[in-house]
Amino acid sequence: MTVPLTDKILILDFGSQYTQLIARKIRELRVYSEIMPFNVSLENIKLFQPKGIILSGGPSSVYDEGAPLITSDIYRLNIPILGICYGMQLIAKQLGGKVSRADKREYGRADFIPDTDNPLFKDMSKRSLVWMSHGDRIEKMPEGFVAIGSTENTPISAMAHPKLNIFALQFHPEVAHTEEGLKILSNFLFSICKCNPTWKMSSFITWSVDNIRKDVGNKKVICALSGGVDSSVTALLVHKAIGDNLTCIFVDNGLLRKGESEKVIDTFERHFHIKLVFVDARQRFLDRLSGVTDPEQKRKIIGNEFISVFEEEAHKIEDVEFLAQGTLYPDVIESVSFKGPSAVIKSHHNVGGLPEKMRLKLVEPLRELFKDEVRAVGEELGLPEEICWRHPFPGPGLAIRCLGEISQDKLNILREADAIVLEEIKKAGLYRKIWQAFAVILPVKTVGVMGDERTYDYVVAVRAVTSVDGMTADWVRLPYDVLGSISNRIINEIKGVNRVVFDITSKPPGTIEWE
Ligand code: XMP
Repeated sequence: MTVPLTDKILILDFGSQYTQLIARKIRELRVYSEIMPFNVSLENIKLFQPKGIILSGGPSSVYDEGAPLITSDIYRLNIPILGICYGMQLIAKQLGGKVSRADKREYGRADFIPDTDNPLFKDMSKRSLVWMSHGDRIEKMPEGFVAIGSTENTPISAMAHPKLNIFALQFHPEVAHTEEGLKILSNFLFSICKCNPTWKMSSFITWSVDNIRKDVGNKKVICALSGGVDSSVTALLVHKAIGDNLTCIFVDNGLLRKGESEKVIDTFERHFHIKLVFVDARQRFLDRLSGVTDPEQKRKIIGNEFISVFEEEAHKIEDVEFLAQGTLYPDVIESVSFKGPSAVIKSHHNVGGLPEKMRLKLVEPLRELFKDEVRAVGEELGLPEEICWRHPFPGPGLAIRCLGEISQDKLNILREADAIVLEEIKKAGLYRKIWQAFAVILPVKTVGVMGDERTYDYVVAVRAVTSVDGMTADWVRLPYDVLGSISNRIINEIKGVNRVVFDITSKPPGTIEWE
């Protein structure tokens, strides 16, 4: 979909870990932003019609062989430019300045003194903490540039060419450690690029619905609902566009959380009146998983079985031409087609292969959105809070939290324990502050004593982590009383468990899931 907005910012990606963060911060300021690879053609840049261009940071040095460059025609487009870190060094080098390798990498907080007369630093404090992370620095600015800010170690920490409307920062305004970073970005957007804050989820819904109608016409669409926020919002948008020509398929694989399938049926069928095919495939999955202990084997079986079940059900619906999928913007920019084949691609866990196998065309209405925007769209469409804010839940579900061999018995224990963990965390008001919280059932039994009796029962582990994207994570310092209630309730209410432990491992070295 092309977003029909005139106020857009283009971010050229030089490989910084913060590139997506820049895009998100700009959207938070209600201006639409898109990321393109640094080597996108000038023609495509013009076609996008950005009101401003940001050159991201990156891991390279401008002196590296094969360091990423942009065509210098970009500086003559008469579009304001903001270079960040590597982006700054690139501007300096390409426009005739001198960049030198610093003796040692400057990394961490620095006290920045901005020239508050410059529009980029309008209304900023006289001194402000910023986040530095660079190896090279500017020794001599290109002609026409003036220094507009310094730190003790880096005399030229910011520079500008007032006539060309080019600005550059040695530090990262997009990260939370830069105290007035959002103000700097806001100044760039509104004072320099003259953008209006036009990016709103309500308008997104209107365009998206129009687009789906145009793309799909009167053809039929199917959508695999998982109960998570992405597939739920996808289904709601498509339903808003084409009504009963959408059929959702929800597969209960027996590996879902307590009450999950009832919730999905209640929400989508009863509340939103969406055509829903509910497939009870619990026994089928359990049979296929019988005796399997290897985690990757479990994943493979569950993935393949899901495709088979889904295909069977989809074939029962006549004339289906499209498959609606909840692909998000971060998936798009991480993909091979975006970065080129040389990029290191994060391995995706999700069940893939459906569209190719079934020869369906894709409808992906969330391709432009970040996760927080998907949640905002969900809220706007009336999706219950419980689904809108649900923690990520892995495709293989409880199978990879029931360590070792899976049995109905162990799954039942796990489902109850998991429900208690979540209830207590919600009760303590911590749910939204946590990325994922869950229970794991271990394949060992330990000795305990209950009343006068010796017990020999399962161990349940509790895991709670904070994370931004699941790639790294830290364990949550849950208050002792919350841990206490979780432990008491699990042991008192669930037969078959006599010990609860808490996982205090971050990622890395641990993973979030136990399998
Ligand atoms: P790990 O355990 O690799 O998890 O640190 C990172 C994130 O991915 C989720 N995860 C999965 N999601 N299928 C999925 O759809 C999977 O097989 C899978 N394995 C892990 C995990 O819950 C966390 O959010």
